[in-house]
Amino acid sequence: MKWGLYATGGIAEAFASDIRKLKDEKIVAAYARNEKKGRSFCEKHHIERFYNDENAFFSDSEIEVVYISTPHTLHAEGSIKALQAGKHVLCEKPFAMNANEAKRVIAIASEQKRFIMEALWTLFLPTINKVFEWIAADRIGEVQVIHANFGFDGSKDPLGRLLNPDLGGGALLDVGIYPVLMANFIAKSTPESISAQVKFTETGVDGSTFVCARYPNGMLALLGASIEVNLINDLIIYGEKGRIVVPLFWMADEASCYYEDKVETFKSDESSRRGYHYETQAVSDAIHNGQLQHDVVSHQFTLDLMETLDRIRTEIGLVYKQDFES
Ligand SMILES: NC(=O)c1ccc[n+]([C@@H]2O[C@H](COP(=O)([O-])OP(=O)(O)OC[C@H]3O[C@@H](n4cnc5c(N)ncnc54)[C@H](OP(=O)(O)O)[C@@H]3O)[C@@H](O)[C@H]2O)c1
Repeated sequence: MKWGLYATGGIAEAFASDIRKLKDEKIVAAYARNEKKGRSFCEKHHIERFYNDENAFFSDSEIEVVYISTPHTLHAEGSIKALQAGKHVLCEKPFAMNANEAKRVIAIASEQKRFIMEALWTLFLPTINKVFEWIAADRIGEVQVIHANFGFDGSKDPLGRLLNPDLGGGALLDVGIYPVLMANFIAKSTPESISAQVKFTETGVDGSTFVCARYPNGMLALLGASIEVNLINDLIIYGEKGRIVVPLFWMADEASCYYEDKVETFKSDESSRRGYHYETQAVSDAIHNGQLQHDVVSHQFTLDLMETLDRIRTEIGLVYKQDFES
């Protein structure tokens, strides 16, 4: 596919580096609001066309898929512009600021008959697929408890996207989404009950959020997120007869399964922090197959995830201005 990048920040850099591993995928154009930064990004990644004008970018007829990597608050708007220009879309997480926005974007994708997927790259990593294989093969028995954290001591810039409420700042939407998505994915459902505790930052977003959830199948999840504290960022899946441990699970390159007094360890060829090309390939394959959504990260999965995040936000009293828009 021929890709266009809508923003050229930190994650766009990782996306552009990893796509080089795929011989049939090419970035043909990029848009950035900052001309100097955008041009130097394009030079570095050998991208033919740079646009400082977003209308010109969306009118570029060579672009087939747009990768949206602006701050969270601009995801829905960017996706809608791309879809209305007839492009397929891969949109960074969180897909939108809340479930209402997500529904609106998905409705437009359906009207336009264009593919759209939330960039939940973790679900396409070989290590995570191995974890799902172990669970499906009943290695650890029925899953009883999931414990996962994603916490780091992040930027202290009150205007930066991590702390700024106007850019959707806060731990839950930035990193808490990963433990929550793993719990929803493994339980194949959304929580029937949620409780949560929060510590707010001076800017009014959640610096740390801890969630305890119960799923309809009885599975419990203890999920932590922080943009202020370096947590131990493992995913531990406890089953009736064993457990699976995945260090740095959102970018997992290694996992161990403990069962029947044995340990099986899987190590990916890829080092951690690399692996965005698996989702890129998955999107390309799905579009070539004529699909409008991906089987792994379906529209319903994204809507359920957004609804779960909304419910956690209700529990901790975290509100964004988008919540007041219909
Ligand atoms: N999948 C993953 O592993 C992963 C990892 C990190 C982030 N993400 C997601 O990707 C998105 C971007 O994160 P990032 O770390 O790449 O952020 P970033 O480095 O701050 O980049 C954001 C980009 O958006 C541009 N932008 C356009 N309008 C903007 C506005 N009004 N305010 C601020 N920036 C604006 C910025 O332009 P300038 O360069 O002109 O500032 C910059 O190029 C977030 O939604 C985040 O959740 C995903």
